[in-house]
This record gives sequence, structure tokens and C-alpha cells, in this order.
Amino acid sequence: MADFVVIGKRGELADDSMKEISIEGKNILLAFIGGKYYVTASRCPHMGGNLSDCKLEGTVVTCPMHGSQFDLKDGSVVRWLKGSGIMSALGKATKSPKSLVTYEVKIEGDNILAKIF
Ligand code: FES
Repeated sequence: MADFVVIGKRGELADDSMKEISIEGKNILLAFIGGKYYVTASRCPHMGGNLSDCKLEGTVVTCPMHGSQFDLKDGSVVRWLKGSGIMSALGKATKSPKSLVTYEVKIEGDNILAKIF
């Protein structure tokens, strides 16, 4: 059974921002949006694009590699691969949409904790 581990301190992130954190070799994404924290995998489930390198639109992140979009609230796929060309069609045909892994978050005092293991 997974336990909560401390992944950061409140106040480290400005509102509507995010950063990648490595905890015991596992890369996760910590985002602070509208006063709420979200923790997900930091790498895109398509081919590993670094989601901390993209811009936030509300709670939606867009992968910098092929444009897939995910909602950080629940990891759901908003868009699977961008574009309509032959490469996009081939990509969609060879790899089915896959949600972003999300992790339970809680706050204890000034600590941000997530259940990531
Ligand atoms: S690696 Fe993210 S959309 Fe391809």
C-alpha cells in the first residue's frame, strides 16, 4: 500500500505554475493552479515528452513533442496528438490514447505530500 511522501513546501510555486520534481528516481509534475495542488507523472504517456516544459491553460497541459493535451485534475486525455496529417494519423493508429497518471495530494502544515509509490 502506498504511503504519502513529502514532495515540497507550500509557497514554493507561484499560482498557475508547475515544475518537475525527482523523488527517489521517479519524475513527477507538481502544479499549483487556482490555489490547488495537482501531482501527476511529468512525462507524456505517448513518447515521454517533458510536460513541465509546456504552458498551462487552466488545468490543461500540452505536450511539447506532439501536442497531446491532458487535464491535470484527473489525467484525462483532452486531445491525443495534434494535427490531421499522415504522421498524426499513423501515430494515432499505432498508439491508443492513454491517460496521464495522477497522484493523490494532501497538505499537512507547510508540507505538500503525494502518494506516489
Ligand atoms: S510525446 Fe507527448 S504527444 Fe508525443
